[in-house]
Amino acid sequence: SHLLLINGPNLNLLGSREPEVYGRQTLADIEQALSAAAGQLGHRLSCFQSNHEGALVDRVQQARPEGVDFILINPGAYTHTSIALRDALLGVAIPFIEVHLSNVHAREAFRKHSYLSDIATGVIAGCGALGYQLALQSAHERLNKTKA
Ligand code: DQA
Repeated sequence: SHLLLINGPNLNLLGSREPEVYGRQTLADIEQALSAAAGQLGHRLSCFQSNHEGALVDRVQQARPEGVDFILINPGAYTHTSIALRDALLGVAIPFIEVHLSNVHAREAFRKHSYLSDIATGVIAGCGALGYQLALQSAHERLNKTKA
């Protein structure tokens, strides 16, 4: 299947950005490890990062004609603000898993609300970079179920 990994604002700074919160792996490290794992499971992974809300909306919209089967997304701070991203994901109707490196529920109150969680297939938070791998495994299992 074709999977799409989307990372939102400031996630290009991973590795140097608040490493005690977000870990020391860079986004390139995470993308490489996830692409390798996806390949081993027989999938193809496309990766995209942007600091711009509209660019993220455009990327989600493109996923439909591209035939993307599943989206893994860490929307960064847009998690807590973006009705546009929610509408884009509803619009393409592609199942997705929401990933957060940090435990958003153990931080500031404004991080507790997500515009995406109630329409996500699953939500992973607080597992660091491993969360992306867990999301991939969950997507893999769900894709196999739909095939059967
Ligand atoms: C984040 C959590 C968000 O609240 C924050 O704005 C981020 C990263 C995470 O991965 O833990 O940019 O999505």
